[in-house]
Amino acid sequence: MKLYVIGVGPGDSELITLKGLKILKKTPLIFYPTGGKETLALSIIKDLIPLEEKVLIELYFPMKKEGDLSSHWKTLAEIIKKHISEKKEGVFITLGDPAFYSTFFYLKPYLEEMKIETEIIPGINSFSAASARLGIPLALSKEEIVITGAESFLKNSEKYLFYHTIILMKCHRYLREIGDFAKNYGFSVFVGKRVGQKGEKLWYNLSEVKEDDLDYFTLIILKKTLK
Ligand SMILES: C[S@@+](CC[C@H](N)C(=O)[O-])C[C@H]1O[C@@H](n2cnc3c(N)ncnc32)[C@H](O)[C@@H]1O
Repeated sequence: MKLYVIGVGPGDSELITLKGLKILKKTPLIFYPTGGKETLALSIIKDLIPLEEKVLIELYFPMKKEGDLSSHWKTLAEIIKKHISEKKEGVFITLGDPAFYSTFFYLKPYLEEMKIETEIIPGINSFSAASARLGIPLALSKEEIVITGAESFLKNSEKYLFYHTIILMKCHRYLREIGDFAKNYGFSVFVGKRVGQKGEKLWYNLSEVKEDDLDYFTLIILKKTLK
């Protein structure tokens, strides 16, 4: 039994790897995550392969990861096992890259216990896509770069002062605090919302962004302003 875990990229369906697409085309069984309001990973592949020819299995991943969710992860692994036992192979699709703030790895230990082999096919992550759309480099030469969630960044932001580039995920509720940090410590702010998705917006100037313009699929890139 084998599960392919495919990163389908952050939104633009042309940003999937050839390897990922080849596996998606040949594998009849597709598991897709739900949890928020949207099933984005599924909508990314719908223009690439005929979904009506596939068996689609929804797996619910709660947005909040607090508390002990081990029994939930085990239940999801059991659902995968039940379906894979029949088809022998399946695909789990995930937004962006599977190894980067993604949910699949919560299931992996349970799948291993159940003797389900996994193969990870990487995907283009959201911050690479955002830097490309914004047309800015993430790091050059000896510059140092850090990527983190906005909430933990703001708990101890002085720690990040000496980086040249700071990438903030899950940031849409913290615009004002991030703006204050950037102003106080000389960082330029770049914002990418729904990069590669319907409703994509890019901003190069924080004064033009309102918190209401943003949603969960937003990331912020802070770059130390050159003197
Ligand atoms: C749970 S993480 C998933 C990251 C994903 N696995 C990746 O490789 O980029 C969700 C966060 O990724 C960022 N994100 C994901 N897709 C995005 C997109 N298309 N545009 C902007 N930010 C995105 C947002 O910061 C969001 O809060």
